Amino acid sequence: MNLKGRDLLKLLDFTPEEIEYLIKLAAELKENKKSGKPLSPRTQPLLDTLDRKHIALIFEKTSTRTRCAFEVAARDLGIATTYLGPTDSQVGKKESIADTARVLAGMYDGIEYRGFGQDIVEELAEYANVPVWNGLTNEYHPTQMLADLLTIKEHFGRLKGIKLTYMGDARYNMGNSLMVACAKMGMHYTACTAKAYFPDEKLVEECETIAQKTGASITLTEDVDAGTKDADVIYTDVWVSMGEPDEVWEERIKALTPYKVDRKVMSNAKKRAIFMHCLPAFHDLKTTTGKEMGEKFDITEMEVTDEVFESAQSVVFEEAENRMHTIKAVMAATL
Ligand code: CP
Ligand code: NVA
Repeated sequence: MNLKGRDLLKLLDFTPEEIEYLIKLAAELKENKKSGKPLSPRTQPLLDTLDRKHIALIFEKTSTRTRCAFEVAARDLGIATTYLGPTDSQVGKKESIADTARVLAGMYDGIEYRGFGQDIVEELAEYANVPVWNGLTNEYHPTQMLADLLTIKEHFGRLKGIKLTYMGDARYNMGNSLMVACAKMGMHYTACTAKAYFPDEKLVEECETIAQKTGASITLTEDVDAGTKDADVIYTDVWVSMGEPDEVWEERIKALTPYKVDRKVMSNAKKRAIFMHCLPAFHDLKTTTGKEMGEKFDITEMEVTDEVFESAQSVVFEEAENRMHTIKAVMAATL
């Protein structure tokens, strides 16, 4: 398996074997970091060439996990990072994406981009002759997928045949990416949400075509009971994503409250089911936005109850840690 020079823009661009390879590599790097287990003779050479490399981290939207994962993973690999935050650089405002790509590619060995449209990161990759990694766009969040697949594999020992139900806004980056990831890995994906939040039909068709080859399945349902029945994984995300206007809060809370993950949802899933969330999550009122919405709409949580979030079934912090191990694997494999 040779992924040198490859971009990671969306999982649709990768074969199931390549995804499996990245997950396995991440698991190996994780074990090496945690217990000092030596790397295999095939993996060690990937790391030997990384010191003295430089990467640029462009964040047009804010981040905790993705930024920290890239910075810590890079440091572990001997790679130097430059962070360009939402107001730090000329990107997009005074300098086009195509020009930025060519400037940065002259100095850096890889570029991470978090921002708005998928077309922006695709353009960046087209003009930069170094690997470009998508750190989240409105449409996709591929590095999150690798962490999620690793977490699921750690829990169930396999991916094939796992039933994952996603509740919430299934038309955005997380819903789209999970549907693609499940299709690629032979998993059963259910979007359980209000019809207006079902994913784009074209993407559903594309995933169904992939599913025919991998044994996966795609289901869209408004029925909470049917959609969560016997699920192995219950997954949710914030109801309003970064970059969306504040005015949408009201309609989202109204439309998606029936799809909140609570104890009843978890007990309808399999006994050994896990709860997952890419984070950050509104599971209480201990954030400024959570508090503001709590007061405005008389609610105490949004997409998930505090009870489920803090329960033994919740693997959200393992998932967050796995962001670092999987991003490390992506850099080691592609740089
Ligand atoms: N899950 C995730 O991408 O988190 P951040 O927004 O903190 O990077
Ligand atoms: N859908 C969320 C994901 C955050 C990791 C957002 O785009 O804000």
